[in-house]
Amino acid sequence: KDKRDFGYNIVLIGFMGAGKSTIARTLSEKYGLEVVEMDQLISEREKMSIPEIFETHGEEYFRNLETELLIELQDRKNVVVSCGGGVPMRECNVAEMKKNGRVVLLSASAEVILERVKDSHDRPVIEGNKTVAYIRSLMEKRREKYMAAADFIVNTDKKSAEEICRELVEKL
Ligand code: S3P
Repeated sequence: KDKRDFGYNIVLIGFMGAGKSTIARTLSEKYGLEVVEMDQLISEREKMSIPEIFETHGEEYFRNLETELLIELQDRKNVVVSCGGGVPMRECNVAEMKKNGRVVLLSASAEVILERVKDSHDRPVIEGNKTVAYIRSLMEKRREKYMAAADFIVNTDKKSAEEICRELVEKL
């Protein structure tokens, strides 16, 4: 293990199924970094699944928790922050992510995304709409905001997690 002190957090953004959780885990193993999986931490603190939070309190409440967590993590360093896919959609979150450290956009094609998300039921934003056409249209709508938030992009369609991590760290 090649333990590193980056002196800042590495913030992973991208669409559902782009590989944020997998790459966060691999980065953590390779470089001895802590992972904060935003969805998981929010869900633990609320003692509810993400779909339950959406049903009980509404999406806005969930989005507020995301913003608060980004601010909380600004006091930390060497944390890989695996964001929920919707985090960059809020204008104010972009600045809060940048205050954490480097913001890395993971990208993948709609076809690959569909393969990765089709068997899970914990994503209320696409539940009931798991088609390439729907995913592509939502990706289109989000693209500009993802691009604006990112310091750089790494595509995850074909490479192994190891290769993706190496490429990512070289670009930091
Ligand atoms: C969302 C993505 C999810 C989760 C929530 C909303 C989105 O995270 O935060 O279901 O709006 O794209 P993942 O990208 O980890 O699936």
